[in-house]
Amino acid sequence: MDTVKFAHLKDCDEEDIELLERLSFDYAGGTGHRVLELLGKLEDSSCGLQVTRLSHSLQSGTRAWLDGADNDWVVAAVLHDIGDLYAPFNHDEYAALILKPFVREQCTKTVQFHGDFQKYYYNDKIGKNPNVRERYRESIYFDDCVDFCERWDQNCFDPSYKYFPIDFFKPIVLDVFSRPPHDPKHIQPGIRMPLVDPNHRVARKASRSNCLELYPQNS
Ligand SMILES: [Fe+2]
Ligand SMILES: [Fe+2]
Repeated sequence: MDTVKFAHLKDCDEEDIELLERLSFDYAGGTGHRVLELLGKLEDSSCGLQVTRLSHSLQSGTRAWLDGADNDWVVAAVLHDIGDLYAPFNHDEYAALILKPFVREQCTKTVQFHGDFQKYYYNDKIGKNPNVRERYRESIYFDDCVDFCERWDQNCFDPSYKYFPIDFFKPIVLDVFSRPPHDPKHIQPGIRMPLVDPNHRVARKASRSNCLELYPQNS
């Protein structure tokens, strides 16, 4: 196996760095697969919910896909809570950092902010301010985050909801994570795409039962 010659970085030479860059690039190519593995680990947690965190994430992705959303949105929905495992106190920022090099800025920011926007639905029940989201009022993505939480997050704790499994989302996730990182063509700063695409929505809703047959929930 190829390895560098140095034990202290300050002793490296050009050959070492070229080797590291090549092998690091190859390793980075597996990010999508590792992210999917991490997503699968959310199966182990429910913390009192009626569904596991994996089920919650897949419900979110399924709803996004059925709304006709583009791949950036679908991947953001499926992965929006991926930080729960290793960053339970800032899971939204953790997920956003993973997504940031590969998806539209709009989706990264929405995922980054979603924890505070979700508080709209429960903070009043425990005597706290439900409008914490107002701190993001000046963001051009404020409405996107409101819609994201309303359409694809607060309603995804439903044990009776039929959702697509990880395998359904696998090609979409791998495709997005195979993009050149930080490519302005994909990051599209300041561009807002709708969460719901009415035309795709009709077609996807029509294919829902076929998809559920092809991808049974427990596959
Ligand atoms: Fe969350
Ligand atoms: Fe969530």
